[in-house]
Amino acid sequence: MNLLVLSRNPQLYSTSRLVLAARSRGHTVTVADPLQFRIVIAKGLPAMFLNDAPIGRTDMVIPRIGASITNYGLAVVRQFDMMGVPVLNNAVAIARSRDKLRAMQLLTKRKIDVPTTVCARTPESVELSLKLVGGTPAIVKLQQGTQGIGTMIAETPQAVTSLLEALWAMGQDIVLQEYISEARGADLRAIVVGGRVVAAMRRQARAGEFRSNLHRGGSSLRIDLDKRYAQAAVAAAKVMGLEVAGVDMLESKTGPKILEINSSPGLEGIERATSVDVAGAIIAHAERLLARRAKRRKKDDVVEGERRSTRMRESLIPVPVAGGKRVNLVRGA
Ligand SMILES: Nc1ncnc2c1ncn2[C@@H]1O[C@H](COP(=O)(O)OP(=O)(O)O)[C@@H](O)[C@H]1O
Ligand SMILES: [Mg+2]
Repeated sequence: MNLLVLSRNPQLYSTSRLVLAARSRGHTVTVADPLQFRIVIAKGLPAMFLNDAPIGRTDMVIPRIGASITNYGLAVVRQFDMMGVPVLNNAVAIARSRDKLRAMQLLTKRKIDVPTTVCARTPESVELSLKLVGGTPAIVKLQQGTQGIGTMIAETPQAVTSLLEALWAMGQDIVLQEYISEARGADLRAIVVGGRVVAAMRRQARAGEFRSNLHRGGSSLRIDLDKRYAQAAVAAAKVMGLEVAGVDMLESKTGPKILEINSSPGLEGIERATSVDVAGAIIAHAERLLARRAKRRKKDDVVEGERRSTRMRESLIPVPVAGGKRVNLVRGA
């Protein structure tokens, strides 16, 4: 198949691994920067150019949209979707998972556990908000943060108040969250591909840090995910509607609590920690999706063909009307 990886930089570990995995499975791959696309919006005829040329034949798009270009990147993904090109993670699913508040709202609607999270916009309500998340220490989080940047811990109510006030003054959307202390600086990352966990690791924050992100100096270890955790990860990816997802979970006293779901999970940390060919698993899933789609098309063609021949027969055989009742001569004819 002709694969297109949307990524700003072909040198990135994740991008180059996807390219290698696709080539080794006999596919043709192109990497293109989402910002190089020209989107044409016209009634009934969505189209797209890459630089000055109309885009070539594309069987499947794998988006790796960085947080800094979310809006334009998602417009490109949506355009492919509208043009009938299958995308591995559609624009709505990516947008859902990228907004932490939106993601949490959807997860809890489906009874999936998350740390208690409060969102408010007035300083007067800080005391109540803090009570709702179990007091300090509490987590203050930017709704759109990544790589640990934008996730803070506040040790005292005063610290919470001043953090919230400062961030509100800067126009940031934030949430206050229960601090899961028993996780002790560790979290679990499960990679879910096509509704199945293909790899999992435990990440441990470095000394003096509560965030386990590898970008913040955390270390990682391969793990066999407990069934409850695997089920939670798969359910979370499903609620988001993501075909490929990196699901972050905390191990709490009461079981898995989902922290966030990443639509473009980094492959370097997980592949190094687990030696699993995650890129290969993603390409294999793209193949399965395409095969499923082709089968559906074929079935649709058969059904449509059958309908067409029935319509033709019905139009050829006159249907007599007896006593106002329609007699179908076609059946059994
Ligand atoms: N409520 C929490 N309780 C304990 N640790 C947390 C909590 N929220 C986040 N962390 C730690 O901070 C890290 C980063 O938080 P996360 O919400 O995943 O933001 P980011 O999108 O920046 O990775 C997590 O991987 C986890 O180690
Ligand atoms: Mg995270």
